[in-house]
Amino acid sequence: MTRDWQELEKWDRAYYLHGVQAASEHQYTAVDSMDGNWFTLADGTRMLDFMSQLISDSMGHRHPAIHAELSRAMERYGHAYFGLANEYRARAAKLIIENLLGESAWAGRARIFSSGTDAVESCITMARLYTGKSVILTQAHSFHGMVMGSTMMRGYRANISPASSFDKVQDIPGFPAPGYIPIPAPEFEDWDGSGRLPSLEATEQIVNAIGGENIAAVITEPMLGGAGTFPHRDYTAGLRDISKRHGFLWIDDEVICGVGRLGEWFGYMHWPGVEPDLIAAGKGLNGSALPVGAVIASKEISEHFETARWWSGSTWDGHPLICATIVGNLEYMLANDILQQVRQRGAYLKERLDSIQAKHPSVGRVSGRGLFYTVDLVNGEGAPIVPEDRNSAFTGDLANMPNNIIAGENAKRGVFLGGFTPNTIKLGPPFTITQDEIDLALDSFDQALDVIDEKFVKS
Ligand SMILES: Cc1ncc(COP(=O)(O)O)c(C=O)c1O
Repeated sequence: MTRDWQELEKWDRAYYLHGVQAASEHQYTAVDSMDGNWFTLADGTRMLDFMSQLISDSMGHRHPAIHAELSRAMERYGHAYFGLANEYRARAAKLIIENLLGESAWAGRARIFSSGTDAVESCITMARLYTGKSVILTQAHSFHGMVMGSTMMRGYRANISPASSFDKVQDIPGFPAPGYIPIPAPEFEDWDGSGRLPSLEATEQIVNAIGGENIAAVITEPMLGGAGTFPHRDYTAGLRDISKRHGFLWIDDEVICGVGRLGEWFGYMHWPGVEPDLIAAGKGLNGSALPVGAVIASKEISEHFETARWWSGSTWDGHPLICATIVGNLEYMLANDILQQVRQRGAYLKERLDSIQAKHPSVGRVSGRGLFYTVDLVNGEGAPIVPEDRNSAFTGDLANMPNNIIAGENAKRGVFLGGFTPNTIKLGPPFTITQDEIDLALDSFDQALDVIDEKFVKS
């Protein structure tokens, strides 16, 4: 079938409710098909997906193992609501609790949802119900989703710049919502001060002021995905220590980092001896073959809810088809030691990034783990090119932001690679990426950085 892309563009522009770009600046880029680590645009251009869409499609597009399990499931199931069990729900929960998390033995039960936001919000509900307390500590620069609950958790928060001025910011009325208290973002890995991290010092002061008896939980990401920050090595264990001493829970938002992205099943595993109370998972569970999310609770918290009568559930809880994609993905990842593959390919990617950093004065920092690396771009003084950096409210002329210049340069060479915050480029290819494809993307990135050097460092 040939598609009339002109007609489709007209409908898309006329009827779809778009985000991020205003209609006046909207660039219509349509995808015609997706296959493995590549996708093809409506005009026939092939693009190497070096960001796995939103650091989400971790097994590339239309992975045969995931699709085969989904096809089998579709022969038997459509939707079965949560009051009825189904084969795939049991298999998905068993894989998560026993196969991914069995070794450390802290995790009790999982519930499967249809988005990461659902998982985050479920964690908040559970933390508040379990502790009987209301305050949630949330990090600056964090991202937890874009519906009303998760968007109130600070960080990036669905603000709007009105059509009359893209330099203005209007927050959602009611923001900041009561019950969510911000704590500082972690220091970068290369922070070279001495003593306790200032972020932890400040967090402890905030906790002392509020009182642990009022705090239900703190929610953080192992590596801040939206902001692209891998925290200093002392941060996560230090924060967990504060939460334990003051008697509140740690919600570990693994929606972006979980299920192999950082080279471990879950990002928190980079810190030996550190375990969360609740995990919000998503994207990587099924490589985003279908919308997905999951809450994973410690044994104690699981039993608290399982033995109670908890009036909860959404239409999509434990959806057989979503669970089938989780089963297809996790069984394949386990059988083929995909974690090891992530570590190997990630080591090669890091090697290439290190030599790129040595060559380009505009590269200020490379950080990350596994197959999720971020590159921070700086000016001639070594400072962020856009001063607001991770505090950006996405105002002004976005086309001239370094992240978008890099995305445009890479697109010219058939590589999908840019970023969301103005100075930070996110490299998060599928776990199925080959060494040749890493070379192709990094050669393109290398040339794109020449433009940044020229424009922001040498001028
Ligand atoms: C860390 C984190 N939490 C939550 C979410 C929200 O997940 P979803 O978009 O599936 O609702 C995201 C999405 O990018 C995320 O990166």
